[in-house]
Amino acid sequence: MNAKLVKYLVGIVSVGLGALLSGCFDVVPMTTVHPVTQEGADIMTVYKITTWISVAIFFAVSIPICIALYRFREKPGDESIPEQVHGNAFLEFLWTVIPVVLLLIIAIPTWQVIFKQAKPFPEGQSLKVEVIGHQWWWEFRYPELGIVTANELHLPENTNITLDLTSADVIHSFWVPRFGGKVDTVPGHNNPMYWVTPTASDTPGGDYYQGQCVELCGLSHALMRFQAVIHKKDEFDRWAKTYNEPPKVVTSLEKKGDQIFHTICQACHAISGTASAQIPGPKIGPDLSNFGNRRTLGAGTLENNQENLFKWVKDSTSVKPGSLMGNLGLDDESVRAVNAYIRNSTVKVY
Ligand code: CUA
Repeated sequence: MNAKLVKYLVGIVSVGLGALLSGCFDVVPMTTVHPVTQEGADIMTVYKITTWISVAIFFAVSIPICIALYRFREKPGDESIPEQVHGNAFLEFLWTVIPVVLLLIIAIPTWQVIFKQAKPFPEGQSLKVEVIGHQWWWEFRYPELGIVTANELHLPENTNITLDLTSADVIHSFWVPRFGGKVDTVPGHNNPMYWVTPTASDTPGGDYYQGQCVELCGLSHALMRFQAVIHKKDEFDRWAKTYNEPPKVVTSLEKKGDQIFHTICQACHAISGTASAQIPGPKIGPDLSNFGNRRTLGAGTLENNQENLFKWVKDSTSVKPGSLMGNLGLDDESVRAVNAYIRNSTVKVY
């Protein structure tokens, strides 16, 4: 073998091995193969059937091809081509029937899962959450609890959830990989989705599962993320009960931030229990109640800390291209004041 060929082979094998070994991570945030809900487990069952059938077909086809290529290759001294065969009724029958059977093995459980997952919970036996996609963030409304939040979907463990998905602008798609399938959010139309939430661990503050928009929806599509947070039942009740309590404004910086918020920011944002929440009509920016408790800012784009929040409020487009807030022209001191108000005053202990 010449050196160039060896180099190519080593290259191909390395890339192949790399791709194969990348599957060896245990649990990563966006994994689909470690579902935590029954809905995710059902999809995983169908996925496994399809994968193993595909693997079997791959070997059933490629091994005979390799053997044939080797055994019947042209050899020195060959003067004529081998006997040519056209049509074989038995083989034609066989390779029609086998794929039909394999497709049925895939199709039947797939149908079962699709119909099972489209089945609504009986009336009054689930917690309803309205999910609204925006360019580029997520709004979550709990009509029964009177709560509006953004980018963190808080849910109680082991509970039936009915999600009502829609969009305020373009088509987005809602997906929490470890929970199950994706559903599009379409403007002017409601798509339902049904989950039974998993059991929560003993971690205070709940278990976080990453979600992501999975429909190309513009400049910052990749930065349209969110967290689904599963709480113990009593912790969820405390979260819901304290959610709408007003912020505790203590320091002079927080007081200054309160003023600026209620002069400029309230045009687009609301914080429960304050004047900003009394203005009628929907807000075009995310609700900021309990913002101090959120793990991320900018719809899952950055960790929620002072430094990142400063960057965000100073000029949100520096973090998220196309963000509507953009640069408000606030001086550094005002940005720090607003941040102190929305981040420190809104922390709730639940
Ligand atoms: Cu919203 Cu992609």
